Amino acid sequence: VTVEWSLEAAEKGGHPHYMLKEIYEQPRVLENTLGGRLHEEEAGVELGLKLDPTHYDKVHIVACGTAYYAAWVGKYLLEALARVPVEIDVASEYRYRDPVVDDKTLAICISQSGETIDTLEAIREAKRKGAGTLGVINAKGSSITREVDDTLYIHAGPEIGVASTKAYIAMLAAMAMLAVWMGRARGRLDEKTAREFLGEMRKLPRLVEETLELRPQVAHIAEKYHQAQDYLFLGRHIQAPTAYEGALKLKEISYIHAEAYPAGEMKHGPIALIDERLPVVVLATQSPFYEKTVSNIQEVRARGGRVIAVATEGDTEVKKFAQDVIYVPQTHHLLAPVVSVVPLQLLAYETAVFLGRDVDQPRNLAKSVTVE
Ligand code: G6P
Repeated sequence: VTVEWSLEAAEKGGHPHYMLKEIYEQPRVLENTLGGRLHEEEAGVELGLKLDPTHYDKVHIVACGTAYYAAWVGKYLLEALARVPVEIDVASEYRYRDPVVDDKTLAICISQSGETIDTLEAIREAKRKGAGTLGVINAKGSSITREVDDTLYIHAGPEIGVASTKAYIAMLAAMAMLAVWMGRARGRLDEKTAREFLGEMRKLPRLVEETLELRPQVAHIAEKYHQAQDYLFLGRHIQAPTAYEGALKLKEISYIHAEAYPAGEMKHGPIALIDERLPVVVLATQSPFYEKTVSNIQEVRARGGRVIAVATEGDTEVKKFAQDVIYVPQTHHLLAPVVSVVPLQLLAYETAVFLGRDVDQPRNLAKSVTVE
């Protein structure tokens, strides 16, 4: 028993939980995901894929859980940088909805384990219907990698914590690279824009390293609200999936009920929930839609809600309306999900620790779901 304990302690690298270890690994993970693949000189990426990105006129992305939110971020990236229409589905819906697919469809599935049965069946369905298939996968040689035409490995290393953290950030980086790959090949992304975007991507490991320093502040916020019954998470455009991922992390490991909404939908229902007991996390990083999000914050405040804003360093506006502001480093607005998810992972982690939850083995959840 003693041997096992010390082995486990060693595996956690001195951290009390795998989840925390994996959160701290994220800068290194990003280096691995991006490693050798960004080529600013040629204004492109080298992904070693056999698929021809010019052949497809639409993209379908399927995934489950956290990977689905990476799919959602991927949709914004691909549509913005490659101007290709993208549909996203949770895999369990896609496999039964008789999707309209032809040989001009590129079907992408995203999975950490490469073993999730719904994701596997969804990609099989796309393949049966003639789509080209691409897996964005962490686990080497996993079932999905054996069935798809091509695999882009995310190189996050083994993820042990049931709540996915480092795999998510690696999936986001992989989707950004795919968007550049498609955008350049389709002639929809000019050299200058590509080069600048790749330059911003290259900074991500360092920026994520900086966000880890937010932990004490986030722990303080977690303590302040750890007795909340519910949380609301809001985000707009590419930060909407960040809001959903933040809510998912909190639900998974703290068991606090959390809902997420695209910020603009707040007035169509969730606004009725807002009172002085409801913490509302708002993703308010710099973007072309920033002002819209600030007005959402004002609406929450006007109804007595407690606002925890995630804003860009240097922002002086948001603190006028939010009780707490978490400042994340400046990056391209299409990459903001990468830096913004880190404080939300830490919020979930610290809240779960305050509540004495089993962080690495949350009740009723499995690391990979291989039955329907
Ligand atoms: C399970 C895990 C989640 C994960 C999802 C998809 O529900 O608990 O953390 O996001 O499966 O897993 P995959 O391995 O396909 O990414």
